[in-house]
Amino acid sequence: FMRDEEFYGPSLCTLRAAEQYLLEMVAEYQSEAASGKTEPVHPVMNCRSRIKTADSMIKKLENRGFNTDLHAALTDVYDAVGIRIVCGFVDDVYKIAAWLEKQETLKIIHRKDYFAWPKPNGYRSYHLCLQIRAGDAKGTMAEIQIRTMAIDFWATLEHQLKYKRKIPCEELIRKELKRCADEIAATDISMQTIRDMLENDFE
Ligand code: GTP
Ligand code: MG
Repeated sequence: FMRDEEFYGPSLCTLRAAEQYLLEMVAEYQSEAASGKTEPVHPVMNCRSRIKTADSMIKKLENRGFNTDLHAALTDVYDAVGIRIVCGFVDDVYKIAAWLEKQETLKIIHRKDYFAWPKPNGYRSYHLCLQIRAGDAKGTMAEIQIRTMAIDFWATLEHQLKYKRKIPCEELIRKELKRCADEIAATDISMQTIRDMLENDFE
């Protein structure tokens, strides 16, 4: 067990600054989206963030075959700083992603659209790996995950599987989770369609 301060040293402050910087950007997006609207508009339903713990960082670096030092933690993997944005609707996911991607203070390293290309287990999400170009956290890498509430709920349960050593009826559980993911995706699209109809005032 290693303390985060021990592993990250003074860089921990920079990582925290990066985390704050991105959280403020999300808050800015939220208030921009609401401005000028008469009804309440909250494209971001929930936003969580974390600095990867020293233990989990070391484990990841080991698994990937990288050195287990600070330099590797800050350059070989992108998720020492992680932000998770949870939206109500699929459109909101793409809108905030597009907004983040056009910010000049962020340099997008890569994006993964698991909505368009779900993982074989059914996982869906929009991931951005980026580097902050301004402020105290300039140069810091971060990973932003953007997903719907329904998928967030699924991913939380699915994530627990990774930590279970012995899973009963493993094949059945994986199959059922995949089925739930696909049902959730279909429901997300239906909910989006209902919202579009309400907003466009279709007859
Ligand atoms: P990591 O080593 O986990 O960062 O994977 P990667 O480099 O292939 O990146 P990817 O964008 O696929 O995944 C990054 C993060 O997304 C993970 O650390 C998880 O937080 C989340 N994630 C990716 N795939 C899954 C999945 O199948 N289930 C769940 N619950 N979360 C996932
Ligand atoms: Mg990760």
